[in-house]
Amino acid sequence: MIPTLEWLPTGVNFLDQTKLPLEETYVLATDYKQVATVIRDMIVRGAPAIGVSAAMGVAIGIDRSTATDLPTLTAEVAVIAKTLAETRPTAVNLFWGIDEVRNLYNELAAKNTPIPEIKAAVIAKARRMYDEDIASCKQLGANGASLLPQEGTVLTHCNAGALATCGYGTALGVIRAAIEAGHKIDVLADETRPFLQGARLTAWELMKDDITTTVLCDNMAAHLMSKGRIQAVIVGADRIAANGDTANKIGTYGVSILAKEFGIPFYVAAPWSTIDIATASGDLIPIEQRAATEVTHSNGKQMTPTGVGIENPAFDVTPAKYITAIITERGVLRGPFTESIQQMNKQTAPELLPA
Ligand code: MRU
Repeated sequence: MIPTLEWLPTGVNFLDQTKLPLEETYVLATDYKQVATVIRDMIVRGAPAIGVSAAMGVAIGIDRSTATDLPTLTAEVAVIAKTLAETRPTAVNLFWGIDEVRNLYNELAAKNTPIPEIKAAVIAKARRMYDEDIASCKQLGANGASLLPQEGTVLTHCNAGALATCGYGTALGVIRAAIEAGHKIDVLADETRPFLQGARLTAWELMKDDITTTVLCDNMAAHLMSKGRIQAVIVGADRIAANGDTANKIGTYGVSILAKEFGIPFYVAAPWSTIDIATASGDLIPIEQRAATEVTHSNGKQMTPTGVGIENPAFDVTPAKYITAIITERGVLRGPFTESIQQMNKQTAPELLPA
């Protein structure tokens, strides 16, 4: 399996996704500040991977603390959480990951648990979140596999694969599960300007699994759809609002409109931790703006005239009306999503791992 990130006694080890597909190198983060930098610089990226990285960031911050009393440690935890929370605004998994470990810390601190025990518990929690993420991906893959065609071509945008999670992937997890169930699927990967997650990462990881993959530029999907070359679209998500509006990598919105125009099903695959019940609709989701140089430069080479204006929103919001179904580890949601999300939210989360 592709080792996106890994907890080691020395720190959190990250596959450097900025260097793929040409170099497979790792970055070891030995404290929470380095974990924050790794997230901000997109050495690790993809909502579920960011969530678990942030959880590990809080755990490593607590573990490395030299505080000898709980009030001091609690003040440090607030700084750790704030630093990690300021890295990237859109993927709700980041805040979920931080909160999961911080809530455990607060619970144990309220009981005056000895600091060494707290340290062991928060590390165990973050490591379990890693295992749970893989289990969720496999479960949502199994839940969504039958939605994909028995035979055909599936378009995906960005990278919602093993590299965007702790393993297996969300959108690519559904594709993997369908292929494991005998579907004959090949994948079209949008290149995903400007960071090229599709061209660099989706193509890299699917080729490793011998899944037939073709890269296309972001402006080619309409032409291929008009020729009957695409049977389904499946993407991941960074945040799904309570009404089903879905933030995902910039360009997803356009693909969803095209899919509607050509009568092609458009699926979103995400773990439940990506659903943000507290955000009523997509217009309330904060959209990260990234550096202009991601657009002006390619591989260190300037592509645009010096001084030209640049837009670089990293995400857009696909309105729920364009989404055929949302595939989660709890089950498949259909519209109207406000009702189906609310209903599934009331169910207890499935135990995907032994206690
Ligand atoms: O900017 P990125 O690379 O972190 O954006 C990633 C995406 O938009 C993914 O599609 C999303 O996080 C889902 S990953 C399972």
